[in-house]
Amino acid sequence: MDYDIKDIQLADKGQLRTEWAAEDMPVLFDIRKRFEKELPLKGRRVGACLHVTTETANLMLALKAGGAEVTLCASNPLSTQDDVASFLVKEAKIPVFCIKGEDNQTYYNHIKAVLDLKPEFTMDDGADLVSTLHTSRKDLIGTVIGGTEETTTGVIRLQSMAANGVLEYPIVAVNNADTKHLFDNRYGTGQSTIDGIIRATNRLVAGSTFVVAGYGWCGRGLAMRARGMGANVIVTEVDSLKALEAIMDGFRVMPIEEAARIGDFFVTLTGDIHVIRREHFEKMKDGAIVANSGHFNVELDLEALNSLAVKKRKFREYIEEYTLPNDNRINVLGEGRLINLAAAEGHPSCVMDMSFANQALCLEYLAKSVGTMDKKVYDVPVEIDNLIAQLKLESMGVKIDTLTKEQHEYLNSWTVGT
Ligand code: ADE
Repeated sequence: MDYDIKDIQLADKGQLRTEWAAEDMPVLFDIRKRFEKELPLKGRRVGACLHVTTETANLMLALKAGGAEVTLCASNPLSTQDDVASFLVKEAKIPVFCIKGEDNQTYYNHIKAVLDLKPEFTMDDGADLVSTLHTSRKDLIGTVIGGTEETTTGVIRLQSMAANGVLEYPIVAVNNADTKHLFDNRYGTGQSTIDGIIRATNRLVAGSTFVVAGYGWCGRGLAMRARGMGANVIVTEVDSLKALEAIMDGFRVMPIEEAARIGDFFVTLTGDIHVIRREHFEKMKDGAIVANSGHFNVELDLEALNSLAVKKRKFREYIEEYTLPNDNRINVLGEGRLINLAAAEGHPSCVMDMSFANQALCLEYLAKSVGTMDKKVYDVPVEIDNLIAQLKLESMGVKIDTLTKEQHEYLNSWTVGT
């Protein structure tokens, strides 16, 4: 079996940490047990490009239990947990290609190694696997039946491929499930981004001015948690509706240009490019801390910062200090890569349970729907979304009411009014 990981000796640690994560992933665990009996993915080759974490390891084990032949590479050069990669290779016998801190060339070589195993299904987080397949491995297009996509940025890229008529197979947008983005993007990003910033800096959030760029589900989650820790939160937005929502949620809203002068912490979560640029870095206070929690590091214009800086030094792990001509120092965390995965461990298992239950069930759905789907981006079937919500509640021991016959009829009638 071919693989490329940091150190095979780390397997025991990776196994224990994966088991710990499984304790808080009951929905995925139930799916794994059913998969073991029913083998819905028997003999299917699955190429996965995901953040290689303990939660992802549990997803890989579930797919393997369902009969799939899985191969895995990282969806970000800095998000890999090397002990987990080692456990998956040594104990689960899954070919894994990723090393935390790999350079861009190695990152893409690892994606190509997954493609070399000729996947019939792709499971992507950010669409690098799918875009590489569509650009440099077109020969594989006839082999691929379908795919899933985990994150907002990936879904946007895939929708653009579909709109341009270049998407060659159906993809289910796992991100669009309510049981994914309402929990993973909001509560997962909210907590894990704060976790990453604190692990990287050991700074106090209380009393600080904390700038959140972007008020999508991730930004909403982060703003909520930063406020919960006592920060004065400022939101920046380009969308009027979201800006209005941030105001009504009790946050200050202003252009990044203004926020740049007063922020202590800055975090981008927009999915867009160069949200914090040269003119903003130039206005920041001495000691400002800047991080990104969006999928790609392009949200910060680090090239501009680099060219502006008169001095640069690595202060401590995950902190690069840039000194500007005006003597102000700006601290960039985790090379501008997703800080929650670079400096911490990503979203907690409890929310990844729902995200990855969606992944497993959507793959089963794709395997059952061979030949019936078009070359476009599909939402997660509502039955899968509802089932996951129901199973999660059950796992928490929470019961809810059911509609009476009268209520059901009332909701389906139009004759009863004032
Ligand atoms: N994305 C964000 N957090 C993650 C995690 N813990 N595992 C896999 N992908 C993630």
